[in-house]
Amino acid sequence: MFVLAACRQQESKIPGLQAEIDSLKHQLDNAYKPGFGEFMGNIQVHHDKLWFAGINNNWDLAEFEINEIKESLDDITKYCTDRPETNSIDMIEQPLQNVSNAIQDKNIKEFKNSFMTLTSTCNSCHQATKHEFNVIIVPSTPPFSNQSFKAVQ
Ligand code: HEC
Repeated sequence: MFVLAACRQQESKIPGLQAEIDSLKHQLDNAYKPGFGEFMGNIQVHHDKLWFAGINNNWDLAEFEINEIKESLDDITKYCTDRPETNSIDMIEQPLQNVSNAIQDKNIKEFKNSFMTLTSTCNSCHQATKHEFNVIIVPSTPPFSNQSFKAVQ
């Protein structure tokens, strides 16, 4: 008798729990999460800063900037699983690794070469994903006037 009563008591809680689950699901579906394009806009800034860090032999900053790019790419694989373009992300791994190696070696010539290849891989992916109108180039002027790209002495 007692067991039965306890069971009934539990059962009576189920509709309430279901309503709570539905409400949480609704909240999750409507929660803000950045889209593919927003991650790309972020990557664009760090790609730009990476160049000026590298050509100024500012290897600490260059390391920081390339990690920012890697983080945004990781976020794309985590948050943009519904976008088929995410499957193309692997193509940028080796070019990024080559820039990382140049930064580790503090080799400006290798940095410049690998940065060019990185940039053309950005465009290869844009072509592969029908966004060929987003053309990335090696920047000519620093993106912000309020940040110095010189190494701190
Ligand atoms: C996995 C393929 C892929 C790679 C690799 C990639 N992109 Fe993109 N990029 C895209 C797609 C897809 C879009 C369109 C996103 C959208 O739907 O808004 C895009 C859009 C952009 C945009 C336009 C965003 C805007 O708001 O104007 C910029 C800038 C950009 N990418 C920069 C880069 C840079 C810089 C790199 C290389 C470091 C890069 N992308 C590498 C797929 C890629």
